[in-house]
Amino acid sequence: MTANSIPAVQPAPCVPAAGSDFLSDAVAGLSSEPQTLPCKYFYDERGAALFQKICELPEYYITRTEIDILDRYRAEIATHLGPNIELIGLGTGAGTKTRILIEALEKPAVYIPVDISDKQLGESAAIFHKLFPDLEILPVCADYLQPVALPSPHRKARRNVVYFPGSTIGNFEPDEATEFLRRIAKVCRHDGALLIGVDLRKDRDVIEAAYNDTAGITAQFNLNLLARANHELCGDFDLQHWRHRAIYNSDAGRIEMYLISQVDQAVHIGDHTFGFRAGEKIITEFSHKYAPEGFAALARNAGFEFQKIWTDDARLFGVFYFTCSPDTSG
Ligand code: AVI
Repeated sequence: MTANSIPAVQPAPCVPAAGSDFLSDAVAGLSSEPQTLPCKYFYDERGAALFQKICELPEYYITRTEIDILDRYRAEIATHLGPNIELIGLGTGAGTKTRILIEALEKPAVYIPVDISDKQLGESAAIFHKLFPDLEILPVCADYLQPVALPSPHRKARRNVVYFPGSTIGNFEPDEATEFLRRIAKVCRHDGALLIGVDLRKDRDVIEAAYNDTAGITAQFNLNLLARANHELCGDFDLQHWRHRAIYNSDAGRIEMYLISQVDQAVHIGDHTFGFRAGEKIITEFSHKYAPEGFAALARNAGFEFQKIWTDDARLFGVFYFTCSPDTSG
């Protein structure tokens, strides 16, 4: 180095967060055959914002159809849920759908929104406090995929109703979905109920268009998983060398989302190296679509009794109402 040359500024070394679940899940997923990256890691700040955009896309019928169904049948749904309930909302996000529901309910006692995003939870709780001053609101910031301890409300409600909108249940494998619903059945307790939004089976073209939008937002959402691995896990994925793809597997009744390697390449995450041939893929998400009777059977296995489904005219989406079977509720 000469006397007046400027030393290059060394970027701070990237250190993956110790004990991070993302690191162990990513390494396990990329070491498995077929290679996977779990879809629950889509939702960092940018991923959550991209998902919000997806919900507004013309091709993504899911969100607006579910909202339309709630809007249309709100009074009937409220009658089925009854007065004075404790409503436990799982992943209810900004709360657009829950607001429609609570507005229709007769004197709801307590609302417990459970969400992983502290920011969104705080914002929506503040809005709900203003909108529903008589409602006891007890937000819980937690990953509802794990067992969650729920707070004890001051008010005594007549029954617990778990509300799980958005067809997020479709992102579980059917066995996992059954296990998850079994845990929910325990929360419902005696005389409890489940109101759940589920995407229904339909024409392949409609489904594939929803996950391959022309604006390319779903592609950005999918690729953001690699960007997140780069930031948080010190990865070196070159995003130019990956492409988004979503295909409907009609035998399994699910959309399969992939990231496809465009070249032969090696990628590093911490001290792990993963080789990919051109055309090789990483599975990033499954989104299962159910026939109404198929979903009712799955829920029955988990301890629920089917009572009612509300759908749109084209039967794209279903809002299911189940009660807990007396022998399974805890
Ligand atoms: C959150 N979940 C229900 C969405 C779905 O449709 O499976 C996630 C998503 N993936 C791509 N687009 C939307």
